[in-house]
Amino acid sequence: MNKNFKNIYNLINDEMINAISNHKNPFHLFVVGNSSENIPNIRTVVLRNFSISKQILEFHSDIRSPKISELNTNPNFSALFYNPDKKVQLRFSGTVQILHKDASTKKRWKGISNSSRRCYLGPYNPSSVINENHPNIPDKFRFGDPNIEETEEGFENFVIVRCQFSCIDYLSLKYSGHSRCRFDFKGKNVSVCWLAP
Ligand SMILES: Cc1cc2nc3c(=O)[nH]c(=O)nc-3n(C[C@H](O)[C@H](O)[C@H](O)COP(=O)(O)O)c2cc1C
Repeated sequence: MNKNFKNIYNLINDEMINAISNHKNPFHLFVVGNSSENIPNIRTVVLRNFSISKQILEFHSDIRSPKISELNTNPNFSALFYNPDKKVQLRFSGTVQILHKDASTKKRWKGISNSSRRCYLGPYNPSSVINENHPNIPDKFRFGDPNIEETEEGFENFVIVRCQFSCIDYLSLKYSGHSRCRFDFKGKNVSVCWLAP
């Protein structure tokens, strides 16, 4: 990899790692898309983990969400990140793995606050039709967090969506000239080429 590509590769890695814990980094939120019966479905999610060497990025979700069954049927994903301050767009694509009730989810669940765990205790299946507006957290926990024992049943619904990417499309906008390149990952080999912006 030449020096220009190496700099971009390192910049992607640094920004993505920073965005996991830095809520102010615009890459903390991203849009993930999948395809179900040839219809594209997109939604905003939170970046929870990233490794460029393992080629993974992760978000958390509820196993009862329609996207999980859709992704089980067709695991292809695209993910879109944009930083309007730096004018950098990243697009990742590949296939997902749904992690549920395994060692990784157990470890991650331990680090989730009681307040956030409420999201996995919803009485309704996410995205299902309901008779009246409801936040889909148990009424008794709307204005006060559950204790740790009360959160444990949420683990049954908690999944990590591990997006294994095989491609990153990088675009940087500048008045003096945009630049764009694509990294392709095959096993441990990374190839990269410039693309017309
Ligand atoms: C700022 C923001 C962050 C969100 N983060 C997540 C997330 O990390 N995981 C998730 O499943 N849904 C998240 N959502 C909700 C999704 O965008 C979406 O509405 C929900 O998951 C239902 O999607 P589905 O019907 O395609 O399954 C977030 C929404 C917003 C606005």
